[in-house]
Amino acid sequence: MELSTHLTFLACISFIANTDTSTLESDKVTIVILSQKEGYNAAHADYLKENIYEQADALEKELPHIVLSHKLNIKGSWTIVPLLTYLSGEFPDVEWFFFCLENTVIRLEKLLDVLGKFNSSQDVWMGYALYDREPTIIHHFAQHTKKFKYPHIASGFAMSVTLLKSLSKQISKGKESKADFSIDVSYEFATFVLSNTGVKLIHVSKLCIVSASDCATYPRFFHSCSSSVTPKNIYFAVKTCAKFHLDRIPVIKKSWAKYDLNIGYFSDAADKNLREAYIVPNTTKGHCAKTYAILQQASKILKRRNFDWLAIVDDDTIFSVVRLLNLLTCYNPKHLVAIGERYGFRIWDRHHGYQYLTGGAGVVLSAPLVHLIIEPGICTCPSATTPDDMHLFGLCLLRLRVEGVHSPMFHQAQPMDYPYAYLASQEPISFHRFWSVDPKTMYNDWFAEVDKVLPLADTPLKHTEL
Ligand SMILES: *[C@@H]1O[C@H](CO)[C@@H](O)[C@H](O)[C@H]1NC(C)=O
Ligand SMILES: *[C@@H]1O[C@H](CO)[C@@H](O)[C@H](O)[C@H]1NC(C)=O
Repeated sequence: MELSTHLTFLACISFIANTDTSTLESDKVTIVILSQKEGYNAAHADYLKENIYEQADALEKELPHIVLSHKLNIKGSWTIVPLLTYLSGEFPDVEWFFFCLENTVIRLEKLLDVLGKFNSSQDVWMGYALYDREPTIIHHFAQHTKKFKYPHIASGFAMSVTLLKSLSKQISKGKESKADFSIDVSYEFATFVLSNTGVKLIHVSKLCIVSASDCATYPRFFHSCSSSVTPKNIYFAVKTCAKFHLDRIPVIKKSWAKYDLNIGYFSDAADKNLREAYIVPNTTKGHCAKTYAILQQASKILKRRNFDWLAIVDDDTIFSVVRLLNLLTCYNPKHLVAIGERYGFRIWDRHHGYQYLTGGAGVVLSAPLVHLIIEPGICTCPSATTPDDMHLFGLCLLRLRVEGVHSPMFHQAQPMDYPYAYLASQEPISFHRFWSVDPKTMYNDWFAEVDKVLPLADTPLKHTEL
């Protein structure tokens, strides 16, 4: 054999041997599913866990460790930081932590290959990197733009044990963020990692945003659970006020409200632009008294007309009725259920912090929950101008021991406030605010196609309730 051939031959051998030894053992990984306790969501997390175990069996590998965060009862675990101390204490011998959602699809062998290419003795974290094109309201208009990367959580992200332990050490020194609001977990967690360790997220394209053959992970699109929820089952309450009757109500009536739905408009006045409005207290900010009055009125309507669900939306919330109905097929309207987009208030404060469903994205409540909230003395507003969503869909739910269900398909902001890749990985249900978009175009671009199966309303809406 000639020397050069011989060397090539040896190089091949050593290459094969190298990949072989660097293949990560599956029991060196802890998979943390950021799960929720509501039945549908918990069932998906359980399914994912079983599926990973089956894959490990088929590969004749040890089982990876799997944690369902909702079972830990760690307050605010959805913001990730509160989990780190627990994880570093509980799994000192693993090399990697992999965080994902209940709808993340994991191909275990490919994931182990991806992780095996990195050195877990170093400060490393990796994911599908998102970045802002422009400063955005959901990131407090921070000026980082492209330089600052944060992971797409539905694709999952991995962190070396080394990095996780050093973050945990920072937390024990009280170095976690003390921001009042938790809005976008991924962005805020990446900020925490960068400011405490200087470590930047590594972009790994095999942690995909949409499924492809070489993906190690990708987010599963939502599928409805049945076809059982129709417009007959739901009442839509639109929160408005006289000064917006002229420019916002016509937009609603020509977009999502043009279908044959049960809709009530709740305002401080009925005028020629909105004769059918229910009159509710006039609040200039916070709107607790107003939203409470809407719940009281809606409770009567739900009872009288036998509706299962109440959707409360702002007069500048634009959404897909069909996607909303599809989502509701996965929840039981006889239970106490609230669904929307979860934000947090002072989540780091173990005693006074809480989560709430942010109002502008739209909030859906099951009928029994609406009736319960307005029972005397349970959720009365501290003042007329208390922020309505924080009180009624936050503190009040906490008091009732109802954990609001977070759906990332609801959006408190406009499409341009989110990265393209993020929106490409899901089918959005709602957007909010008419600041720099033409709302009719927004409806047509995002929702008109899927909603067109609905019958149109044939008569002008009348004030028929009560
Ligand atoms: C992994 O990183 C550690 C710490 O930097 C280093 O000592 C070790 O040699 C690295 N291992 C490999 C296989 O590169
Ligand atoms: C409600 O309050 C706003 C702002 O204070 C005021 O302009 C408006 O006239 C009030 N509406 C009614 C019906 O009193």
